[in-house]
Amino acid sequence: MAGSILSVRLEIKNEAVRKELEEVISAEEGCRLLRRHDDPDPCDLFILETGDDTGKDFQLIQDVQASGKAKEVFLTSPLLEPELLLQALRAGVKEFFSQPIKGEEVRTGLLKFRERRNLIQQKGTEKKKGKIIHFISSKGGVGTTTIAVNLAVSLCESNGSSSVALIDMNLPFGQIPIFLNTESSFNWGEVLRNISRVDETFLMGVLSRHRSGVYVLPSPASLDDVNVETPEMIEKLLSLMRNLFDFILVDGGQRLDNVSLRILEMSDTVFMVTVLDLPCLTNTKRLLWTFQKLGFPSRETVRIIANRYQKKSSISLKEAEEAVREKIHWLVVDDYQLTMSAINQGKTISEVASGSEVSKSLRELAGTFLSQDQKKRVRT
Ligand SMILES: Nc1ncnc2c1ncn2[C@@H]1O[C@H](COP(=O)(O)OP(=O)(O)OP(=O)(O)O)[C@@H](O)[C@H]1O
Ligand SMILES: [Mg+2]
Repeated sequence: MAGSILSVRLEIKNEAVRKELEEVISAEEGCRLLRRHDDPDPCDLFILETGDDTGKDFQLIQDVQASGKAKEVFLTSPLLEPELLLQALRAGVKEFFSQPIKGEEVRTGLLKFRERRNLIQQKGTEKKKGKIIHFISSKGGVGTTTIAVNLAVSLCESNGSSSVALIDMNLPFGQIPIFLNTESSFNWGEVLRNISRVDETFLMGVLSRHRSGVYVLPSPASLDDVNVETPEMIEKLLSLMRNLFDFILVDGGQRLDNVSLRILEMSDTVFMVTVLDLPCLTNTKRLLWTFQKLGFPSRETVRIIANRYQKKSSISLKEAEEAVREKIHWLVVDDYQLTMSAINQGKTISEVASGSEVSKSLRELAGTFLSQDQKKRVRT
């Protein structure tokens, strides 16, 4: 199919590097190298090697992207300096190849580019309106990240055709990358810094994909990128993500500031995670009361999840519901050994013990988000 051919243009200074890249790219099925005389033609991918004048190189990257002459830019350089990598990141470069060139890295970069392109093409025809699911903790350590991460994976696994993204809004240091053992080059701090230039293509380039299929946007890992976020920025980010994904799960932790309030306002479902003890239930009640005063999120949007549930707990389910004057929507049983073992290995609960009560419960919860049609497809 002509549309699936990937055109690649090289702007490489070093002959050996050029040869290596040409060899790898020409051997890739569905890739076409554009020769220099084809230069005025737009290409899908532009791969540039930095030279002595990096200022000029970055200007070229900007021009190529702004004029639409290339859909994405990859960079290679004999230098491996943090400053250069940061500059590349800010310029919207999607992959960086260190030298000497490693064929496997280039092939992976091309594969990821194809995946992004396919997803965007698919999204373009579908025009989704993804659902935002926000998680808020009644108190620290109640298991919000555990539930958010594993529900995201369950949503992906329950229905392979659902696209799921997971955003970590915890500050200062979110833990989703640890839970999923993923490495991300980008976090939302950097994305929001560039929000005026961000579009769906840019976003697909900066999100990292976990092996389950979930796309992850972590929290800033350095203090440089915090305090950049405003409610307007986060609104734009979530609106774009809604066009790309069926579900956007936000681990909001205990945040209750202008930014998280905007997310709460935009959310289709808010899961308030608690455990059945007095301090947590008191906070749950306070949060519900706060939402009522604010006028959002609405009562129908908010659902309480009681985590670490034990039948013999000193506060019964009935007493808890009376205390918070709200139904408990979902119970996740107590299994510290399993959840901790998953976290420590960077694995999902279903990877560690797919038949466990916790895993089953989260699969069932994911099932409540599937349409009848999707449920039928999962069963068949
Ligand atoms: N269903 C469960 N049963 C037993 N222990 C659990 C369960 N869910 C989570 N935990 C444990 O609770 C601890 C905290 O989990 P997690 O980090 O997910 O909570 P959190 O609310 O996100 O915490 P933080 O406030 O630090 O962000 C972990 O040790 C985890 O193993
Ligand atoms: Mg957490």
